[in-house]
Amino acid sequence: MSANTEHEALAALDARRSVPAKQLDAPGPDDATLLRMLRSASRVPDHGKRVPFRFLRIAGADRDALGERLAARSLERDPDIGDGALDKDRRRFSHAPLVIVVVAVLDPEDTKIPEVERLLTAGSVCFALLQAAQALGFGGSWLSGWPAYDPDVRALLGLGANERVAGFIHIGTPRIEAPERERPDPATLLTDWHAP
Ligand SMILES: Cc1cc2nc3c(=O)[nH]c(=O)nc-3n(C[C@H](O)[C@H](O)[C@H](O)COP(=O)(O)O)c2cc1C
Repeated sequence: MSANTEHEALAALDARRSVPAKQLDAPGPDDATLLRMLRSASRVPDHGKRVPFRFLRIAGADRDALGERLAARSLERDPDIGDGALDKDRRRFSHAPLVIVVVAVLDPEDTKIPEVERLLTAGSVCFALLQAAQALGFGGSWLSGWPAYDPDVRALLGLGANERVAGFIHIGTPRIEAPERERPDPATLLTDWHAP
């Protein structure tokens, strides 16, 4: 890799930032572009080559339909919920043209590879998908919220008993240039271990 290419690769990594879901418009990626993104996203460290993840696509009218179901569930969870919060749930999946659910697939019978390592692999997929989306000119956001942890919503999404939502990755065309936020200074995070 030439010094210039190396610099460009790092510049791309350093330019990664989330674009809020509300600022993601159509168009989203077409099928071929999405598969290209998922190819990059699937290229993650994976102890034991378990492939402990899969992708679920939510797009088109199904985004609004899911929102209606979320609002109903939200009301069930909290009958006193206000209209504002209910509306937020109704529109949760309707901002970006596409949401990819990265599903962690955690086989409980796998005693060889610790579950946390398989979950970390699924988390890496989420991050890699954000990077791939940005590399192809799209914006993305990794969101969770209560729907990621609610058993009824998990069932509604068709997740099995051994599956978890690693992330809802909202993808679309950025309407704005997302503002940069303060980043941690790695020098303050680095210490040296010395033999006691
Ligand atoms: C597992 C996970 C779940 C997240 N869930 C939410 C969320 O529900 N709502 C939210 O505003 N940000 C959430 N975030 C944070 C955003 O994805 C994002 O990292 C943050 O806005 C900072 O922006 P950056 O990606 O440009 O650093 C989550 C991040 C992670 C890693």
